[in-house]
Amino acid sequence: MDLIIKNGTIVNSKESRQADLYIKNGKIESIKDSWLYTEIPGTEVIDAQNMLVMPGGVDVHTHLEMPFMGTYSTDDFLTGTIAAAMGGTTSIIDYAIPKKRESLKKALEKWHKKAKSKAVIDYGFHMAIVPPIDRPLEEFEFLAESGVTSIKCFLAYKSSLMASDVDLYRILEKARKHKILVCNHAENGEIIDYLTKQLLNEGKKEPIFHAYSRPPGLEEESVSRVIKLAGMTKTPVYFVHLSSKGAIKEIKRAKKDKQKVFAETCPQYTVLSEHKYFSKNFEGAKYVMSPPLRKYKHCSSIKKGIKEGVIDVIATDHCPFNFNKEKRMGLRDFTKIPNGMPGIETRMAVMFNEMVVKQGLSPNEFVRLNCSNPAKIFGLAQKGDLKEGKDADIVIWNPDLIWKIKQEHLHENVDYTPFEDYIVTGKPVTVISRGDVIVNNGEFKAEPGRGMYISRHTSKPAYS
Ligand code: URP
Ligand code: ZN
Ligand code: ZN
Repeated sequence: MDLIIKNGTIVNSKESRQADLYIKNGKIESIKDSWLYTEIPGTEVIDAQNMLVMPGGVDVHTHLEMPFMGTYSTDDFLTGTIAAAMGGTTSIIDYAIPKKRESLKKALEKWHKKAKSKAVIDYGFHMAIVPPIDRPLEEFEFLAESGVTSIKCFLAYKSSLMASDVDLYRILEKARKHKILVCNHAENGEIIDYLTKQLLNEGKKEPIFHAYSRPPGLEEESVSRVIKLAGMTKTPVYFVHLSSKGAIKEIKRAKKDKQKVFAETCPQYTVLSEHKYFSKNFEGAKYVMSPPLRKYKHCSSIKKGIKEGVIDVIATDHCPFNFNKEKRMGLRDFTKIPNGMPGIETRMAVMFNEMVVKQGLSPNEFVRLNCSNPAKIFGLAQKGDLKEGKDADIVIWNPDLIWKIKQEHLHENVDYTPFEDYIVTGKPVTVISRGDVIVNNGEFKAEPGRGMYISRHTSKPAYS
């Protein structure tokens, strides 16, 4: 049914305005100062008085049903996208990860199969490039034609996913040719491997040693190296999940030098710190992810980077594993703890609270970081903006509602949230995807499989 959203404040990345929004056939038909709902018979009217009406969130970094470290992330495309929707997110881009020597075509088919009958919101895919890379390099044209216009290079996870410097250089050369954006997990995997072996030899096996095995300097070094190599090949690059002060410094410098460099962080790197690894009863394992949580001074630098526009995108890196099951694989050895944590449902609320309510970022900047920038950078032409002709992907947000995050009230398929007992201000109330109300006053109501694949365009910010 067509909709009118009345009396709300429409928030886009550049401006806010008091206006009504008319949705027809799943698209934004028009935005007017005021509608008389009697003007359009048969149209449902939603009153958004005192609410912010924002583009639905775009989370460009998720790992749903991902095979990793001997197990699978526990959210699939049904539970993961329901949780996303409940948190105000209406599009995701998930990382397809090929097995060693598997063709990218095969991997893409697998990811389509995982998502098709399950996703409740729209989704696209990035493709990871894992060594050996000769064959994957031949498939870049196929990727671009299939709407997969970004790839990922892991510079960590030696002996599984890690690309060598030569791999990276060749990937950068080829990606430029096909106008593919190269996303980088930037940590120096060789040195991490060396430090890890040292720690294990010394019998240091608790979760805190995960953090000590990958200090912030190794992120800074890797970011700097990728920037240098990308500069030589003239390839735009994107950095996922940045966590450290030094990385921000490198990105800032590259941007100042007018290099095409884009940066992402995640809520956990703004509000959680390394002290979590000292939690009793192995609870530090809940926060074992890569890169790891850092000292608070790094959280402050990340927030400064967000405010100064050094960071372009906030995503989740949602990669959940149960504390009482998968995480226990590393009870006696931190290297066996599956890396990753949940966050797909809490991203918008944690960031609204931390950056808008506490740090004074404007709601427009919030929209830019969580909705419009990710859509633009990753070629989601129909998403991320409330403009006539765009998909009607909308979140109606109560900016004043104060609530406590509790795992038992979330929809992520995992037995904890790293944000347990966080008190936040701001909550999604109603969520609309292509004109369908999929969350109505906090209640989920949509069929599995209604989400559609988004064949993505070339990134305009990267390649124009
Ligand atoms: O610890 C993490 N981040 N797990 C997911 C895989 C990745 O590196 O993004
Ligand atoms: Zn990563
Ligand atoms: Zn990730």
